[in-house]
Amino acid sequence: MQVALCRLRTHQWCFILFNIMLFHALLFGADFVEEYLLQSLPVAYTDVKVLEIREQARKLDMESRKDNISKSYLISGVDACSGQDVFLLSVIFSNPANRMRRDLIRQTWANVTHVKEYTILTMFALGKPNSETTQLEILKESESHGDIIEGSFLESSQNQTLKTIMVIQWIVTFCPSARFVLKTNEDMFVNILSLVDYLLSLRIHPEDIYMGRVIHQALPIRDPQSYTFFIPKQYEEKFYPDYCSGTAYVISQDVARKVYVVSNQVPMSLPSDVFVGICAHHAGIAPIHSSRFSGHRHIIYNRCCYKFIFTSAGTQDEELIVEWREISDGKKCSVLQTYYGLVSCKVWTYLDKLKYLKNEALSFSD
Ligand SMILES: *[C@@H]1O[C@H](CO)[C@@H](O)[C@H](O)[C@H]1NC(C)=O
Ligand SMILES: *[C@@H]1O[C@H](CO)[C@@H](O)[C@H](O)[C@H]1NC(C)=O
Ligand SMILES: *[C@@H]1O[C@H](CO)[C@@H](O)[C@H](O)[C@H]1NC(C)=O
Repeated sequence: MQVALCRLRTHQWCFILFNIMLFHALLFGADFVEEYLLQSLPVAYTDVKVLEIREQARKLDMESRKDNISKSYLISGVDACSGQDVFLLSVIFSNPANRMRRDLIRQTWANVTHVKEYTILTMFALGKPNSETTQLEILKESESHGDIIEGSFLESSQNQTLKTIMVIQWIVTFCPSARFVLKTNEDMFVNILSLVDYLLSLRIHPEDIYMGRVIHQALPIRDPQSYTFFIPKQYEEKFYPDYCSGTAYVISQDVARKVYVVSNQVPMSLPSDVFVGICAHHAGIAPIHSSRFSGHRHIIYNRCCYKFIFTSAGTQDEELIVEWREISDGKKCSVLQTYYGLVSCKVWTYLDKLKYLKNEALSFSD
C-alpha cells in the first residue's frame, strides 16, 4: 500500500485530491450554502409597526393577568417554573395518550436538570384527550411529575397552533425567567447537552434568537384535502416568510414575548411553525439556520455524530434509550472522530433517503 502510494505521480495525486474535495463538497456543500449564504435578512427596525411591536413586548406585564390566565388551562403547571432561574426550558408537544413515550423521555434526555450550574426545565404540552379515563390518568401523572401543561382545547393535528399559542402564553406568564426555550415534539431525539453547550457559547445577553432548521420559500398549501389547508384569503403572499421547522427550534425569552404580542394579528389556521415564523417576521426577527437541527429527517445513528448534532426525528423507543445512554456516558469524541462521525451520519442518512425514494417510486409504478 505504502509503496503504491509513493509511486503516484503528481497528476494522480491531483486526481485523488480532487475526488476527496468533490466528495466533501457534495456532502457538506448544501449545509454550507444554507448556513452562510442563505441567512434571511432581518426586517428593518425603522419600520414603525415593527418598532411598536417590540416596544409593546418590552412593556408587556402579565402579573395582573396571572390568575385569569391560569384558569384557562386544564392543568396550568403554574408552580413548575416559579422561583427558579431557568437557563433552558424545553417544551415537548405530546399527545395525551402517549404516557409511555413521556416516561421514556423523562428517563433519557429530559432527566438532565442541570448543566454546569445552569438549570434545565422540561415541560410537556398536551391538549385535552377524548376520553375521561385518559384525563384522570393525566391528572395523576401531573401530580407525580409536575411537568404537564394541559390546554382546554381538544388534542388534534389541527389544534397544534392553538397549543403553540397556549405554550407561548405560558412561557411569558409563568416562566419569564427562562432565558431560552426549546420547542420540540415527542418523536424527536434531542441532544440537550450539545444544545446547552452551544447556547452557553453565545453572547452574554443574546436577543432575537429564533434558531432551528430554516425552511426557505415554502409555498402555502391550498389543497382542501390537506390537514394544513386554510383559506387562501387569509394569507395572500406567494411564499411564507422563512421559518424554523416546528420539529425543534430555540427562541429566547424576548422572542416569546414579541410573538405573544402579535399572535392575535396572525390567522390561527396556519400550520403552527409557519404561524410562529410569521409572528417573528412581524416583530422584525429573522430565523437563524443551523444544520445541527435535523428538521424532519431521521439521522442514522453514529455516536460521535449524535454528540455533535442537536436533534434527529422519528426516533423509536428502543433507539432513544440506547442512543441516549451512549452519548451521555461522558466519553469524549476527538475532532477527527466527530468529523468522521458526521461524514458517516451524512452518508448513511443520504443512502437511507435514496432507499426511501426508490420504494416510493416502486409504489407509484404499481
Ligand atoms: C378576568 O376574567 C374575567 C372574565 O373573563 C374578566 O371579567 C376580568 O376582567 C378579568 N380580569 C383581569 C384582571 O383581566
Ligand atoms: C436521572 O438523573 C439522576 C441524577 O440526576 C440519576 O441518579 C438517575 O439515575 C437518572 N435516571 C435515569 C433513568 O437515567
Ligand atoms: C380544537 O379545539 C376546539 C376547542 O376544544 C374544538 O372545538 C375543536 O373541535 C378542535 N379541533 C379539532 C379539529 O379537533
